[in-house]
Amino acid sequence: MFKALFYTHLISVNLFLLIYLVKTILLVANKNEALAKFTKINKVPEMIISTLFLVSGIYLLTQIGTTTLLIVKIVIVLVSIPVAIIGFKKGNKLLAVLSLLMIIAAYGLAEMNKKKIDKQTVDVAVSNTNDANYDVIKHGESVYTAYCQNCHGKGGTNGAVGSDLTTTQADEATKLAQIKNGAGSMPGFKNVLNEQEIIAVATYVESLKK
Ligand code: HEC
Repeated sequence: MFKALFYTHLISVNLFLLIYLVKTILLVANKNEALAKFTKINKVPEMIISTLFLVSGIYLLTQIGTTTLLIVKIVIVLVSIPVAIIGFKKGNKLLAVLSLLMIIAAYGLAEMNKKKIDKQTVDVAVSNTNDANYDVIKHGESVYTAYCQNCHGKGGTNGAVGSDLTTTQADEATKLAQIKNGAGSMPGFKNVLNEQEIIAVATYVESLKK
């Protein structure tokens, strides 16, 4: 369900942007007739796309929870809507371009949001591999709590966003690759975690398997 709506959102945002880009170009280029024609043809598709875009966006919001960056993004999108409506109704090029820039900025923020993973503190007591008591699973659990739990849930079972890690069919190599590179809406961790942390968290995840 999450995945389907995630892609619905992604596709509708892109289509929405495309329609807006064409409309803005036509307006700025004074192609009023072409603009009127394009607007007429796209009336129904545009309504469907913007509805899908908003509904899927709201659903994702209820699943992911909000961050400051996400709130800024939503505010920009909400402000851009009346700016766009007024811009196109009055044929005001400045407002039309402004609304397009706002939507693009919001899109850029969303991308940034995805890439940015803050360095979290992992319990140093469990991460020293030279310690005679070093336990790779304890180390992995500490990494998991810091980086993975908010999506996959405690113990890998009750994630709001991520898949259930206790019933996964993925083998260890696949899991390692997924943790390093990410997949779907899961970010990759290869630039955030060091090799030992990745191995530890993968071993911990493997130990959750029922
Ligand atoms: C932003 C949310 C998010 C975070 C943070 C996250 N994951 Fe994921 N994870 C997902 C989603 C969503 C999937 C399903 C991805 C797909 O295949 O589309 C997934 C899939 C996986 C899988 C593959 C499961 C399978 O059955 O194929 C593994 C393993 C995994 N995550 C481990 C981790 C580990 C370890 C961490 C922390 C280092 C982590 N994840 C952090 C969202 C997240």
